[in-house]
Order: sequence, then C-alpha cells, then structure tokens
Amino acid sequence: MTESEMTSALLDWYDRHARTMPWRTGPAEKAAGVRPDPYRVWLSEVMLQQTTVAAVRKYHDRFTALWPTVADLAAADDSEVMAEWAGLGYYARARNLLKCARAVVADHGGRFPDTHDALIALPGIGPYTAAAVAAIAFDRSETVVDGNVERVMSRLFDVATPMPAAKPELIAHAARLTSHARPGDHAQAVMDLGATICTPRNPACGICPLRDPCLARLRGTQTERPVKASKKAKPHRRGYAYVGRRADGAWLLETRPDKGLLGGMLGFPGSDWGEAPTPMPPAAGDWRAAGEAVHVFTHFRLTLTVMVADLAPVNPERGHFVPEDAFRPGALPTAMRKVHDVAAPHLSVERRHTAG
Ligand code: ADE
Repeated sequence: MTESEMTSALLDWYDRHARTMPWRTGPAEKAAGVRPDPYRVWLSEVMLQQTTVAAVRKYHDRFTALWPTVADLAAADDSEVMAEWAGLGYYARARNLLKCARAVVADHGGRFPDTHDALIALPGIGPYTAAAVAAIAFDRSETVVDGNVERVMSRLFDVATPMPAAKPELIAHAARLTSHARPGDHAQAVMDLGATICTPRNPACGICPLRDPCLARLRGTQTERPVKASKKAKPHRRGYAYVGRRADGAWLLETRPDKGLLGGMLGFPGSDWGEAPTPMPPAAGDWRAAGEAVHVFTHFRLTLTVMVADLAPVNPERGHFVPEDAFRPGALPTAMRKVHDVAAPHLSVERRHTAG
C-alpha cells in the first residue's frame, strides 16, 4: 500500500465509523458543506487534552449550554467558569480558556482566526491546539499529533525508538500521511482510530483499515509500541486539609491563588504539601483528624490528613465562610471533593441532617 492509499483507506473508514460528538457536524451537515463551529471545536480540544472523550462530553454540553458563543464565555464570571471546570483537572487550562476567549473578543471581534499562526498567538493555544483547530474547524492542511496519533504511527511504521525521543520521527510519519484534500477529517480519523481500534492494550487489528500495511502487526510488536520511557516512581507528599463548619451549616472555604496546583479553584484551607508538613489550622477550633484523602497528580501522590472542627462564628485567619445553600461540592476539584467526602460524616451539622 502506498502512503496515499493508506490515507484513502483511513478516510473511507472514517466516513463509515466516525464517532458522533457534540462538536462534530453530522453526515447531513457535512454533505451540505457546513463547517463545525470553531468555538465548539476549540473548547473540545482544550478539554480533551489529558482527558478522555467520555469524560469531556458532559462538560462540553454544559459549557455550550451556559455559554453558547465565545463572547458569552468571555463575559462569564471567572469563579463560575472554574466551578464548572471542577473535576476535569489541569486547572491552568480553565484559566487560559478564559484568557483566550477574552482575546478572541478583544482582538478578533469575537471570531476565531482561521490560520495556525494566528491561533497560536492566542493565550493558552499551543502547537497541538492551533493545529487541531486550524485543521478541524477551517480545513487547513495541518498535521495534528496527540498521544493517539503517536501510537498509530509508532505501530504502522514499527518505530522502536523510545518516547519521547521518537516524537520527531512520529510527527514526520504523520505529516507524510496527512490528507491535503480533507485535513480536518484526516486528523480526526487518526485520533478515532487510535481511540477505538489501535488502542494501547489489545488493539483490534483484525478490523483495522490499516492492517495490511501495518509493520508492527506484521512483526507482532503492536503491544510493544510505542516504546515507553522508563517510569520513575512518583514522589509522595503529605499535607493537612481543614474542613470547618459553623452551627448554621456554613463551610470554611478558600479560593486558591491563581499560580500553582489547583490554582484559582475553590478548596479547603490547608498546610503546605511536602514530606513533613507543619499543621496550619485556618481558625481557632477543636480540630480533630477524620481520616485521610489520597489523590494522585501527574507528578506526585498526595495524602491529606483531613482535620474537622465545628467552629464558633469566629473570624478565620484564612478563607471565608460560605453559607450552606451557596456551597456546591461539585464546584470542588477532585482532590478537595475527596477531602469533603472524608470530612462530611464527622461534622455535627451533617450528623444532625442525616439523623433528621
Ligand atoms: N482527541 C482529541 N481531539 C479529538 C478529536 N477531535 N476527535 C477525536 N479524538 C480526539
């Protein structure tokens, strides 16, 4: 099979098997030449970085229902957007999302620019997102390379170089296969193939449109590709998290500073995170340990000792009280959600509610 035959086989497969997604156009729209909305495509690509399609769908639906256009998102309240992002992780993405939406409104009249170079100049848009939006929304001839595409290329050409050193080679293979007639569909075809057939474990080679030319399949090396860099053990950090409630049900919460992990997100006040953290209660109270919450971030594992206290109506040293009916645990990032779940049964207000 020549490279252009591989490209055709892939597009034929995509025409029959493309996944339906809220940011893609359907067959009827496509036939009528309707392009997908750049705002929805951009939002999906930012959400999909480090996150699965299954997890992203409902966030994408919710964001586009609340903010149907980039101008609506640009006008949104920062804390509301951060609260809706809760659970998706990598919170810098949400802060950059807002910066980008505001730049599109301020500098481009509320319309996304349609070239890679203009897109990459926007805040929070890197090489991957610029290429993906240019290809998918504007059918620009760009090569889009994410983890799925890397895996497909490493198998198709049986690349034995370990990651990440293999990246330039994989990008070069992907670029040679890129369809200049339908670059947007091509980009999504390779990603769909990687997500549904050329999967990390147990790839479904028998039904793959590229099974004949695939060198890894020929040599039986599929599950050894891509060759991973040797994994270092994750370091372990510890910390304290303080969950305080007043008798009227109000919670002591804190918005974390914009910089750093969970930046800009709502959470419970805590200590620093390290090997031997110093307790730092945010308000005077009878603090007692309720248990531990464990969360694994990309670069370390965190164990938080969850301290709880029923607080008098004091002025806290850190944080602010949020009335019971204004507090949504869903607005917390996952690590803090776990802290909440450990603490809640140990607080008197909660016990009174569950007993009643
Ligand atoms: N992963 C990231 N972006 C994607 C897209 N547009 N289609 C399928 N999978 C993806």
